Amino acid sequence: MPKTLIEPFRIKSIEPIRMTSRAERERLLDAAKLNVFKLRAEDVLIDWLTDSGTGAMSSRQWGAIMEGDESYAGARSFFRLEAVVRDITGMKHFVPTHQGRAAERVLFSAVCKPGQRVPNNCHFDTTRANLEVLGVEALDLVIAEGLQPSLVHPFKGNIDLARAKALLQGDGERVPFGMITVTNNTGGGQPVSMANIRAYAALLKQHRKPLIMDVCRFSENAMFIKMREPGYENTPIKAIVQEMFSYADGATMSAKKDGMVNIGGFIVLRSDEWMDAVRNLEILTEGFPTYGGLAGRDLEAMAVGLQEGMDEDYLRYRLRTAEYLGERLDAAGIGFVRPTGGHAVYIDARTVLPEMPVAHYPGWALCNALYLEGGIRGVEIGSVMFGKRLDDGSETFHGMELVRLAFPRRMYTQSHFDYAAEVIAEAKLNARNIRGVRIVKQPKYLRHFTCECAWV
Ligand code: F0G
Repeated sequence: MPKTLIEPFRIKSIEPIRMTSRAERERLLDAAKLNVFKLRAEDVLIDWLTDSGTGAMSSRQWGAIMEGDESYAGARSFFRLEAVVRDITGMKHFVPTHQGRAAERVLFSAVCKPGQRVPNNCHFDTTRANLEVLGVEALDLVIAEGLQPSLVHPFKGNIDLARAKALLQGDGERVPFGMITVTNNTGGGQPVSMANIRAYAALLKQHRKPLIMDVCRFSENAMFIKMREPGYENTPIKAIVQEMFSYADGATMSAKKDGMVNIGGFIVLRSDEWMDAVRNLEILTEGFPTYGGLAGRDLEAMAVGLQEGMDEDYLRYRLRTAEYLGERLDAAGIGFVRPTGGHAVYIDARTVLPEMPVAHYPGWALCNALYLEGGIRGVEIGSVMFGKRLDDGSETFHGMELVRLAFPRRMYTQSHFDYAAEVIAEAKLNARNIRGVRIVKQPKYLRHFTCECAWV
């Protein structure tokens, strides 16, 4: 057998990308107030800002789009998608939403009350913000290994069951439900084991609390289980996925990830209990529950995409891609969250900029440097994203300074990855010239999206 693992697809339609000069990029980044979110995508060569909604759809998905039924209520496309979602999740109720955070907002607004506390391995930033805006505390209880970037563990996304138990025993009345995010995006795209999901669900059940899974990357999580968890080597991906869902009482999904679409999401729930409140809020902001802010054609593309995302050859290639970039970084002496995650590689900026004070935001600084060096756009997951400026002007900082390079699905080829590996190695060689930033303007919530910075 040849050792080279190839992209398990061929290209039918292409989109040109544009080279820029270093001088041009310096000007563009300045104009963007040193915040890569403010760049025009056209000015980016390799856009690894996110894997969310950025992937390439298949010819089957584009074909399905023509089948879209655009009826306001009861569209055929809804029932087609509902059948696929039911088959995968086994849940009775399915409501589409326009994306994942809409699912979060509708569900949390329907069932949460101020003063409550919701445990998770790690809440994604919109999940945390959607809870906090309702006065609910978002608790991150990932295992200790999950917070040590260089430590290798097969399931660094696992939730710490002892801490979850202590919370439920000590303060259970304030917990409306438990959450778990697969894969754990904020913690490095790391998987959660089946054993951990099973045990967490049992613990919650003892305390009569539902388990809500954040399932954006359920297929990637399932592939990790297949590759790493004893007993699942020969289990088909779909059966692993179905078992994962069997332990949950509900889920929120951003289909922009493993749903393989450019827009869409959903809520699923097993019981009737919360459905009236969910449906009413859905109608208020997302739309009638059979379209939920999406066009009929979007529902069709999602029905096909959810199935394609579970294809084992695709998943093997997908996880291998991240691993390959990790090997190249390793060879260049650059640290990253180990092992590499499903959808992304998280560079540990401290290994490139060990001397930069955290108050100069080394993660943000490296992110800017990768753009200047080679037109690559990643995203900082560090103290700009998760730190906070307090009323007295002081700051809280995040425990890790990471730069996430997240890979759109079925879009970039191996030579793009080889180029990126060279650019990142070059940035490390020129680390002395990388400058930190200060934040000159910021909003109260989710400041990384819109803050304006200046060089220190
Ligand atoms: N939960 C997780 C774990 C996510 O990664 C995301 C989005 C969401 C919820 C929200 O979904 O974007 O459809 O509203 N993550 C993207 C990212 C944006 O870049 O990681 P959404």
